[in-house]
Amino acid sequence: MSGIAGKAVAITGASSGIGAATATYLAEKGARLVLGARREDRLNAVVDRITAQGGEVVGAVIDVTRREDLKLLTDMSVDRFGRLDVLVSNAGTMAVSPLDELRQDDWDAMVATHITGLLNGIGAALPVFRRQRSGQFVNVASTAAYIVKSPQSVYAATKTAVKVLTEGLRQEAGPDLRVTLVSPGFTNTEGVGKGASPEAAAAMVRQRDEIAIPPSAIASAIGFAIEQPIGVDISEIVVRPTAQA
Ligand SMILES: NC(=O)c1ccc[n+]([C@@H]2O[C@H](COP(=O)([O-])OP(=O)(O)OC[C@H]3O[C@@H](n4cnc5c(N)ncnc54)[C@H](OP(=O)(O)O)[C@@H]3O)[C@@H](O)[C@H]2O)c1
Repeated sequence: MSGIAGKAVAITGASSGIGAATATYLAEKGARLVLGARREDRLNAVVDRITAQGGEVVGAVIDVTRREDLKLLTDMSVDRFGRLDVLVSNAGTMAVSPLDELRQDDWDAMVATHITGLLNGIGAALPVFRRQRSGQFVNVASTAAYIVKSPQSVYAATKTAVKVLTEGLRQEAGPDLRVTLVSPGFTNTEGVGKGASPEAAAAMVRQRDEIAIPPSAIASAIGFAIEQPIGVDISEIVVRPTAQA
């Protein structure tokens, strides 16, 4: 199956920002969606909006750090749509801070969300894709996977891990599966600065308000990777504001 229409796509972190924008974009192109996130009210708002516009979509309250939750998400797609064509692993947290502040809970959350969360997605979707002999992983990293800027070291390390895991997965995927890394730069979402130390948050929000691109720019890049013909793998996309250094 090529194109976007009719594909069954599961998206993590779909309650806001890039995940919600990607859901909206793909629904408009005729994809069938399973959306996951922790905040039920925000997730339901996205599901209701897409449903009202005629989209085919279900939501699941999931925490990507829990292995069984990713299994639930991928099972929902298979139960509801008979298959899973794409898993977009997008859930993330940008709770950056200087190492001296010892915000170890935030470090743990970034490791658990970006690394364990991604592995949980691979563990849940890979057997489905192997069975179908088709499927696509789209993993959302960051420009922080390419350039480390203080005080983003833990965030950058986990996003570098996303990049490394994605390349390893691509090499092992074989001819039937597609594996795509999408790395956004500053994007205008509520997640920028959320949970970060006050100084870091202020700097991030200032930069976001000055230069950020809309989340729809990332959504259309994800759509571009998904709509390619069978056998064509868009391996890596970096999307950043022209003004981003
Ligand atoms: N905005 C940027 O400038 C930028 C730049 C580079 C990369 N990114 C990456 O883009 C992705 C999306 O971020 P965003 O900018 O769209 O921010 P956002 O609006 O805060 O979105 C983050 C999403 O992840 C979900 N999430 C967080 N932890 C989760 C968990 N443990 N389990 C399930 N869902 C979880 C959140 O939903 P709940 O809280 O409801 O669970 C939310 O839907 C992240 O991976 C981020 O690192 C963003």
